[in-house]
Amino acid sequence: MEGQEKPSTSIKREPTGIQGLDEALQGGLPPGVVTLVTGTSGSGKTTLSMQFLVYGAKHGEKGIYFTLEESPEDIIEQFEIFDPSIRELIASNMLKVVEVPIVDYESLKETVLSESEAMDAKRIVIDSINYFQMFFPDIISIRRAIMEVSLMLKSRHSIGILIGEIPSGENKLSTFGVEEFATDGVIALYLLEKQGTFTRAIRIVKMRNTNHVTKFMPLDITPKGIVVYPTAELFQDV
Ligand SMILES: Nc1ncnc2c1ncn2[C@@H]1O[C@H](COP(=O)(O)OP(=O)(O)OP(=O)(O)O)[C@@H](O)[C@H]1O
Ligand SMILES: [Mg+2]
Repeated sequence: MEGQEKPSTSIKREPTGIQGLDEALQGGLPPGVVTLVTGTSGSGKTTLSMQFLVYGAKHGEKGIYFTLEESPEDIIEQFEIFDPSIRELIASNMLKVVEVPIVDYESLKETVLSESEAMDAKRIVIDSINYFQMFFPDIISIRRAIMEVSLMLKSRHSIGILIGEIPSGENKLSTFGVEEFATDGVIALYLLEKQGTFTRAIRIVKMRNTNHVTKFMPLDITPKGIVVYPTAELFQDV
């Protein structure tokens, strides 16, 4: 199996806390990387990103989730089912879910920067960069903005997740076709259909400085959240 046998490199890793994914990533995400978490609708992008923040918060790394779409309370309520301790983490200022009003790009940057600095967040999620299309008339400007936001997160020495979307039924990684080139890492989530059965899957498309697993891996959303099975095959029993 490609990418699994070699021992971890000496690069420090920040565990995502997602069982199976950290194994597939040689221990977690390298510090200072910005990763595009892309996927079809309902594929688990929000759950995976919240798990990453909650794990960090429980291990002393403050995290912040910027939402341009769902309300913070909806996101918290949905995640509470997996982990009720989310409320305590928020109360102790280890975790914050912030709504970003869709006004313009400059206010988005200002909100992300000021809120992240105010709490000294080390893990930052923006859901989703698809809304950048509201701010710009062309794809080149969207790509430039994604790169600028990535640099902003890196300059704070944070680990960033930018959430994107895979349009349904299309063989692409992103809506605009540029998002995957503007980030250091890409993790894609899927709901795959075979013979009338839907299977959840995840693929690490790229990750800087990491000899990661590259194949599609099965993924489950369990009562405790997302679990990835790096050594299992997709559709093995279909
Ligand atoms: N408690 C749960 N147990 C099992 N599966 C769940 C649970 N809660 C949600 N799910 C599944 O996870 C899916 C949604 O996950 P999530 O919100 O993380 O996806 P998403 O990719 O962010 O979706 P969207 O495209 O709407 O933003 C639901 O459609 C549902 O199938
Ligand atoms: Mg979501």
